Amino acid sequence: MNIQALLNDKVGAAMVAAGAPIGTPAAVRQSARPEFGDYQANGVMGAAKRMGQNPREFAQKLLDNLELDGIADKLEIAGPGFINIFLKPQWLAEQAEKALADAALAVSKPAAQTVVVDYSSPNLAKEMHVGHLRSTIIGDAVVRTLEFLGHKVVRQNHVGDWGTQFGMLLAYLEKQKAEGKSQAEMGLSDLEVFYRAAKGCFDEDEAFANRARELVVQLQGGDQACLKMWREFNDISLAHCHEVYHKLNVSLTRQDVMGESAYNADLAQVVSDLEAKGLLVEDQGAKCVFLDEFKNKDGSILPIIIQKAGGGYLYATTDLAAMRYRNNVLKADRALYFVDQRQALHFKQVFTLAHKAGFVRDALSLEHMGFGTMNGEDGKPFKTRSGGTVKLIDLLVEAEDKAYQLVKERNSDFDEAELREIAHAVGIGAVKYADLSKHRSSDYIFSFDAMLSFEGNTAPYMLYAYTRVASIFRKAGIDAASLSAPLLLAEPQEKALAQKLLQFEETIESVVREGAPHYLCLYLFELAGLFSGFYEACPILSSEDEGVKGSRLKLAHLTARTLKQGLDLLGIKTLERM
Ligand code: ARG
Repeated sequence: MNIQALLNDKVGAAMVAAGAPIGTPAAVRQSARPEFGDYQANGVMGAAKRMGQNPREFAQKLLDNLELDGIADKLEIAGPGFINIFLKPQWLAEQAEKALADAALAVSKPAAQTVVVDYSSPNLAKEMHVGHLRSTIIGDAVVRTLEFLGHKVVRQNHVGDWGTQFGMLLAYLEKQKAEGKSQAEMGLSDLEVFYRAAKGCFDEDEAFANRARELVVQLQGGDQACLKMWREFNDISLAHCHEVYHKLNVSLTRQDVMGESAYNADLAQVVSDLEAKGLLVEDQGAKCVFLDEFKNKDGSILPIIIQKAGGGYLYATTDLAAMRYRNNVLKADRALYFVDQRQALHFKQVFTLAHKAGFVRDALSLEHMGFGTMNGEDGKPFKTRSGGTVKLIDLLVEAEDKAYQLVKERNSDFDEAELREIAHAVGIGAVKYADLSKHRSSDYIFSFDAMLSFEGNTAPYMLYAYTRVASIFRKAGIDAASLSAPLLLAEPQEKALAQKLLQFEETIESVVREGAPHYLCLYLFELAGLFSGFYEACPILSSEDEGVKGSRLKLAHLTARTLKQGLDLLGIKTLERM
């Protein structure tokens, strides 16, 4: 049930019936304060102004035409022409019953779209570091939510597997093989070390550097021996990535890898197609596109370089080829890119160009879901104490260790295996939730203390809130499926809780529309808060009246299921006890 959409339709229809043009926005929103009703329609003032009418008079005409019998029990005109809508508890109770009766919480399925989601996409030359965390976590939460809503999602892990750094790595691999080193001795288990060693040779040894350059050319030219080494290297590197994904409970698989190299064969075609469309201009030997939309501060047009003077292709060229594939082969309706905000200009340019060149249909919506930087507690980009980049796997292990200590101090009744399981859920959940709960476009401070706190909008708080609700049933030995008493929303806390429960759908709709899981985090946090208020004000198990008890148990059950479903969409594992 999407209450907001329902009311928006009804108020919109009433506006038209009252004389407004078709399509006039009703602008129905959740009210910020209870005295303004549960929802309010804000579209009257704008509509009245456009029609040259008095807003309060138009609001009255609208109300005369508004059909909300059985749904709302009070409607009022407020201030300059806001319409406040007070929902009927009985109607809310009926909707909540429907949610209870349905495995998917009666969330309605919108028209299904094919959505390509480009996320994680690390460069394979090094091991995954903290810079890859946000794309991976946020992208995966959006993917899960899209799928829950019935969309067809195609995950695309657009890994950087084709850059010039591979020449260096291949040269080093070759060198070690020539020295007769075994796989284990080559240091590939630690790609950071391997990368640094290769870089060391490259910087110091002229012959090695030349060999590295040669190998890039050979590799990109399709040399079999080079390709074989390159594949070995990528396999190892991808295995590291998937170790991280597994630990993070991220749904990416090897089948989702569609790296830069996959588009190699199409790059020459991209260039000739742009040429044929008359979009390419030669500038100092390089092939560029100049689009009027993109200007430097001095007013000169910013070029998009498609092919370098030496013949090499660029990041943008590959992205153009990838967009064609997403349009022609994957038949996407939307393509979402979870990539650092600092690449915003790049995406604006290639998206505009792809449409202009006719590489993608007008209807394909290309959306850069940019995100800010993860900073350390000093407010600067997150680094190790010695100033190096932090390996993601180390960070996750540390999070689990810290959670283990914390959980052990709080409750020592658990055996070792339980402690480990809880520490995993809490530690990894904390890292993910801390990221997901902030708006993606802002920078945020990574702090173990803050994310592992049991107070506030954190994973430990949410996981604990869930176990508390779940424990009501365990303690009472009641099977939720056996609850048969009808739901009654007599107390204000009961009504507030039920209404929040029914706002799950509109919340996740915003998550997929804006690629912003923080809406869901905030929603779950508020839901947990309303549950606490309800739990304090409305005795459940000690209630004398069986009907009241059954009704409250149903509310508790729907809360537990909604919390669990919500956390699941965020990719966070819940616990029954902690
Ligand atoms: N590998 C790139 C990086 O680490 C991100 C790729 C994002 N996806 C894309 N289609 N450009 O910066």
